[in-house]
Amino acid sequence: RLRSAPEAESLPSARDLGLATRLRRNRKSDWSRRLVRENTLTVDDLIWPIFLMEGEAKRAPVASMPGVERLTVDEAVRAAERAAALGIPALALFPYTDPDLRDATGSEALNDANLVCRALRAIRSAVPNLGLVTDVALDPYTSHGHDGLLHDDRILNDETVEILVRQALVQAEAGADVIAPSDMMDGRVGAIRAGLDLAGFKDVQIMSYAAKYASAFYGPFRDAIGTAKTLSGDKRTYQMDPANGLEALREAALDVEEGADMLMVKPGLPYLDIVYRLKETFGLPTYAYQVSGEYAMIEGAARAGWVDGERIMLESLMAFKRAGADGILTYFAPRVATLLASRS
Ligand code: PBG
Repeated sequence: RLRSAPEAESLPSARDLGLATRLRRNRKSDWSRRLVRENTLTVDDLIWPIFLMEGEAKRAPVASMPGVERLTVDEAVRAAERAAALGIPALALFPYTDPDLRDATGSEALNDANLVCRALRAIRSAVPNLGLVTDVALDPYTSHGHDGLLHDDRILNDETVEILVRQALVQAEAGADVIAPSDMMDGRVGAIRAGLDLAGFKDVQIMSYAAKYASAFYGPFRDAIGTAKTLSGDKRTYQMDPANGLEALREAALDVEEGADMLMVKPGLPYLDIVYRLKETFGLPTYAYQVSGEYAMIEGAARAGWVDGERIMLESLMAFKRAGADGILTYFAPRVATLLASRS
């Protein structure tokens, strides 16, 4: 009941709604909101993807990802030290391969002194306790920009898997902790697991890109690793159709059966339903990749002054947690980690 105070007289008289439950009660103050909060975002949730390039003491901006740079190996070691100091658990490494090292079969992927392998060794010796994740797929190394062997305009599955197993072994040998197959060939998780075990790498984990969609959100990434212009056609015969959800469950079920330790969904924010379904169905550690296009949209709009970039960054990452993700691969990792540290 409104009392007949002078200021209340101008208000319409409120009926007593007779509500037993008022959800706003728990939201009334900061302490209460903190007390009822269901999810938290911490530095432990972050995997930081970085781009590598040849040379020394150099960084090169990625035009379509403002704030992100390609790093030479020595600079990647600096980044790794920064990650460790911030408490970020792991880095994911992606190479920009010199164009003259790319060929039809991606043979540079099997060179144990390639950019990724050199970076693995350098980071491992400088920062021993940082988790190192490597991507298994041929696209940084092929002249046509595809993740597998191309024959008569078709990507060969089984022949590609054979090479991917060797690529995984080369990376494990160089010190990778987690192998992340992003190629979407059928049967590659099982083949890689068998190959790793046979070679004695029983403790090397596999984070499978279980549900990886044929997405336009990878555009800036292809700019970063230099495949944007060379990619012939698209990846729709191996990456998933964005229209499909049940198929993601089948993809993940196979990867779990084949020995995946962790599952990943990619892209992230537009595919939160998939993150949720995979986590609910399999209960494996499940990760989301906030990909290059998602980063570019947020950062681009923030730099234009159209949105509050910092709040959107935190809100989008919290959304992954709410959907059930155990962690997020995000180019925002060092910034989020810095921000979280300053708040605690
Ligand atoms: C390569 C790979 C891609 C990404 C990660 N690994 C691109 C692609 O499949 O074309 C995309 C990551 C991003 O956009 O940030 N197999």
